Amino acid sequence: MRLQPTGKFDNNAKTYDHIAVTPLAAAMGAAISGVDLSALTDAQFDDIADALYRHKMIYFRDQRMSHGDQEAFTLRFGDFGTDAYTKGLPGHPNIQPVTKEAETRVKMIFGEGWHTDSPFLARPPAISMLYGVDVPPFGGDTIWANTELAYDYLSDTMKTLLAPLRVHMSAVGVIGMIDRTNAEKGEPAPEPGSKQTKIGGMELEIERQSMIEGSYHPLVRTHPVTGRKSLYVEETYSQGFEGMTEEESQPLLEFLQRHVTQASFTCRLRWTPNTFVVWDNRSCLHHAFNDYDGHRREMYRTTVEGEVPV
Ligand code: SIN
Repeated sequence: MRLQPTGKFDNNAKTYDHIAVTPLAAAMGAAISGVDLSALTDAQFDDIADALYRHKMIYFRDQRMSHGDQEAFTLRFGDFGTDAYTKGLPGHPNIQPVTKEAETRVKMIFGEGWHTDSPFLARPPAISMLYGVDVPPFGGDTIWANTELAYDYLSDTMKTLLAPLRVHMSAVGVIGMIDRTNAEKGEPAPEPGSKQTKIGGMELEIERQSMIEGSYHPLVRTHPVTGRKSLYVEETYSQGFEGMTEEESQPLLEFLQRHVTQASFTCRLRWTPNTFVVWDNRSCLHHAFNDYDGHRREMYRTTVEGEVPV
């Protein structure tokens, strides 16, 4: 269904006592101002958390954050999540650098393709954060899609049909693509059991077997804080539905992948240096663009541990 007009949307800002909020797009996303994330009060944090659950993705311009500041802010939401791809920085194992150098030319970058973070894990990260330090003069945007809106816009009959389904989330496609891309560049094939690999010039450490086996999660999941339902499905990790043949799964999967990422449900962020972004993986998908060859992009990522999706 292509939406026109967008009658069920409500991305209006609430009035908060300790932060100011400016919505980014009709579907989702909001800029938060009036705070210094490296010196946050508890009252500001409570407003920020509320704004995150409402807008799904929030961002803060002109933040000066050390790695310690980013760790401290992340821990306000909960324990660090598992990062299935990178091993973090020396002395900061939970801060994952996401960098592409100006001279790097690659077919695939980290975060490309619509996805939710590491859904092949039994407890995928609830929240992810990205601090943009060096950003290209153009390109390198990130786009998000609101998966609660996508659920709301299904017919009642479709909602009933989807309610019992469980989706198989596996990194089989991503790992296959990484291995093929590295083979084309003449890199040696990974040794059996080896964890080391590369994507877009970034060194990775992955548990191939368990990431490929993946997890089965509810296709329609319920947010643990707001109680709202969303579609937990995307084009990178979702393989099919438990108990269905591939022939049965594929048409439904393709419909849902298209439905959930239609332009009406999205917002797109133009990075500027020192922009800090937070998103809720339980209510949105995201996608990075590989369109800034010749320019450097340096980001630092943290994640918050999630619950078993229900
Ligand atoms: C990610 O998927 O976490 C990376 C997003 C980006 O680099 O814009």
